[in-house]
Amino acid sequence: MICLALTGKTIDENIEIISKYKKYIDLVELRADFLHPEEREKVSLLPGMIDKPAILTYRLPKDGGFFTEDESLRLELLSQGLEGGFEYVDLEEDLEAPELELQATEKGTTIIRSFHDFDKVPEDLIQRIQSMPRSDKEIPKAAVMPTSSADFHTLLTIFKALKGTKKILLGMGAYGFPTRILSNPLGSYLTYCSPENASAAPGHVDPVTLNELYRFKNITKGTAIYGIIGNPVMHTKSPVIHNKGFAGINLDAVYLPFQVDSIEDFMKSAEILNIQGLSVTIPHKVDIIPLLEKPLDKGVEAIGSCNTLIKSASSWKGVNTDAPGFMWPLYKTFSPEQLGSKKAAVIGAGGAARAIIFALQEAGMEVLVLNRTASKAKELAEYFNCAWAGLDDDGIAKLSDYNDIIVQTTSVGMHPMEDKNPIAGYEFTGSEIAYDIIYVPEETVFLKKAKEAGCPIFGGKVMLLAQGWDQFRLFTGKAHPQEGVV
Ligand code: ATR
Repeated sequence: MICLALTGKTIDENIEIISKYKKYIDLVELRADFLHPEEREKVSLLPGMIDKPAILTYRLPKDGGFFTEDESLRLELLSQGLEGGFEYVDLEEDLEAPELELQATEKGTTIIRSFHDFDKVPEDLIQRIQSMPRSDKEIPKAAVMPTSSADFHTLLTIFKALKGTKKILLGMGAYGFPTRILSNPLGSYLTYCSPENASAAPGHVDPVTLNELYRFKNITKGTAIYGIIGNPVMHTKSPVIHNKGFAGINLDAVYLPFQVDSIEDFMKSAEILNIQGLSVTIPHKVDIIPLLEKPLDKGVEAIGSCNTLIKSASSWKGVNTDAPGFMWPLYKTFSPEQLGSKKAAVIGAGGAARAIIFALQEAGMEVLVLNRTASKAKELAEYFNCAWAGLDDDGIAKLSDYNDIIVQTTSVGMHPMEDKNPIAGYEFTGSEIAYDIIYVPEETVFLKKAKEAGCPIFGGKVMLLAQGWDQFRLFTGKAHPQEGVV
């Protein structure tokens, strides 16, 4: 079930929020601690004004709430509210209020017995959840904060241990996020979400995202799980690419962002969740290689990094789709013969540059690497057997011999360096193909300069999509429904 936390300042505002999200939610939680004090007398009217079951909650600051007045007033307000016939009331684990409990029982209101830990996953969580309910009618609720991949794994083992126990259990924050989406198969009574731009707790998404992006209602124990591992990871657009693709081909699968600080710890969780495939992003593209099935894929071996994992019988097969993703827009515009005869320059010598040099050489091009730290350019050039220079006057002069295609792979041009161009000293002639792998902003200063000179330009957005389409094929064996649409 999806429970929408009502974070409005007035009852009317909350009614509006409910009507906006009505078709996406199963029940609501009136977070009465968000209300203006003068609105409190209307709390008991809410259940009669809506056609969804409601939870009544006055949260204290220690549990992530905003009710800062007297505890006796809070109990009185809870009691007044209960007169309205709420389906559920949220009472804290440490609250001693027998009269309120009695009133709830008489009114047929189910007590959710809750506790929150914003710092950790407590060691005694299993026993605590088991001992929290004061009668068999109460539903225990624990919201805890995993802060590492090891914590996330612990949380999954707790879900397993409590299989069959009626409970609400969720992990907050980036590490806990998947538990909010997988609450059905993991066995949590409900998941919480918040209106857009009004999050009631760390990691809440809005009901539209839950339903339309993650297809929450369709997720069962049989749903295949995919995802992306990275750190940070919550900003990535990969869940949009893959979940839209799954929906488009009607596949019972979901793709989630997994915040990962230790690959070894995460892989234990991947076993528990029976994850079928993963995208890999910074900083794990190199560290993942020792875990891969041997022999290594040719691209992974040559590039030295891997961005795609596919579950095999006993291990993980690793593939690198960054290289073909990079080439995709070029092959869409130019023939292999046209490209094969070109000379290319790559600005930067990091992880992305490695995949790109490999791709350019595979396409038959001669390559020059230019990098601020010249020793790194040299190292890469020795590995790939290509030309190199520093990002100085000498390097810019050399660039004129390799300027059929100029590829920008550094972070210069993205926030906070949006107004910078790593080859500011170079004058475009108009005949270069300019390619920047940055996708925000879509047009960097480097690309603007090239465009002004009349060069064809390519941005990083298409590369991002194309590497995703390739992953999608590897994950599902089918073409992404938007493959080729840019
Ligand atoms: P990625 O995996 O995205 O390629 P990376 O491995 O951290 O990221 O590499 C970043 C690249 O951007 C490097 O080539 C780096 O140059 P240095 O090797 O000299 O550090 C380059 N880079 C970052 N900031 C830069 C700047 N201000 N000017 C020029 N190059 C810069």
